[in-house]
Amino acid sequence: MKEKIDSFLAEVAAFEASNPTDIENFRIRFAGRKGILNDLFEDFKQIPNDQKKVMGQELNKLKTAVQEKIDALQSATSTGSASKDPSLDMTRPTGDWGVGTRHPLSTVRREILEIFERIGFTVADGPEIEDDWHVFSGLNFPPEHPARDMQDTFFIEKDPDMVLRTHTSSVQVRAMETRKPPLRIVMPGRVFRNEAISSRAHCQFHQIEGLYIDEGVSFADMKQTLLYFAQEFFGKAKIRLRPSYFPFTEPSAEMDVYWGLNSEADYRITKGTGWLEILGCGMVDPNVLSASGIDPEKYSGFAFGMGIERITMLRYQIDDLRMYFENDVRFLKQFDQLV
Ligand code: DAH
Repeated sequence: MKEKIDSFLAEVAAFEASNPTDIENFRIRFAGRKGILNDLFEDFKQIPNDQKKVMGQELNKLKTAVQEKIDALQSATSTGSASKDPSLDMTRPTGDWGVGTRHPLSTVRREILEIFERIGFTVADGPEIEDDWHVFSGLNFPPEHPARDMQDTFFIEKDPDMVLRTHTSSVQVRAMETRKPPLRIVMPGRVFRNEAISSRAHCQFHQIEGLYIDEGVSFADMKQTLLYFAQEFFGKAKIRLRPSYFPFTEPSAEMDVYWGLNSEADYRITKGTGWLEILGCGMVDPNVLSASGIDPEKYSGFAFGMGIERITMLRYQIDDLRMYFENDVRFLKQFDQLV
């Protein structure tokens, strides 16, 4: 019996077929009701008990080999035959693909820019790979000053002077160097920080920077501009400015919006205060103006910067930053009404 099985095993291994009829004949010969496998299992009943263990294993080996052969041949011919069928055009589009949806970050960026465009700002941009001057030194970060540690920077290995910008404030410097006041610009862009990825941090995200420079621009102008933004975007009537520190502004502040405490979620989002931190801002430091060739005796201005991910999280109650970057269609589909 062992010899029989071995020769069938060899036959199965060597068998080839390119059309369904040959495969079906093979199946009937081995695995059909009156096929070889059934015959062998009949013979098996007759063999002495002490051989049953070994022979049983051999028999099962053959049975598995037959099944695997059939599966392999069937899957090979089913894909093969489709591409050979001349009536099938595999390059034709399939059914309804849908048009996709705009990413929530894009929608919110557009909305924020539009609000500022309505009051006379225009959009500008700058490079993501920047030199130290535009990211730090030109913004009044002294060399070796700990303020540089506020942002964990990715450096370009081949050129230590080049970095992936850690904030869009670098575009302010470019704008001040190349244009003359009055300046009224908003600068959206991608920024990078060397941070471990978690629900609250990511090594790349997006910001919108704002800059307004003219003669006689005051802190009150800044406050009014930011209030307008908060009212247009959040529909909230109240903001507050808390003292803060940035090397490139003096005085510096953080702007909070009064979100309210009307639901349990509001308590969670605002940590029970009702206030939400939205952006950093301040009066452009005279050192920054003169470093870019603007006379601080004649001109003054304000600047602000906000994170698009954070604001989008608040708007759509998204609680994990990683959702933005995974491109899971189940997440993205929820925003299709915004297209
Ligand atoms: N660049 C700051 C940051 O990345 C945000 C910022 C704060 C921008 C104050 C400004 C500003 O223009 O005036 O966190």
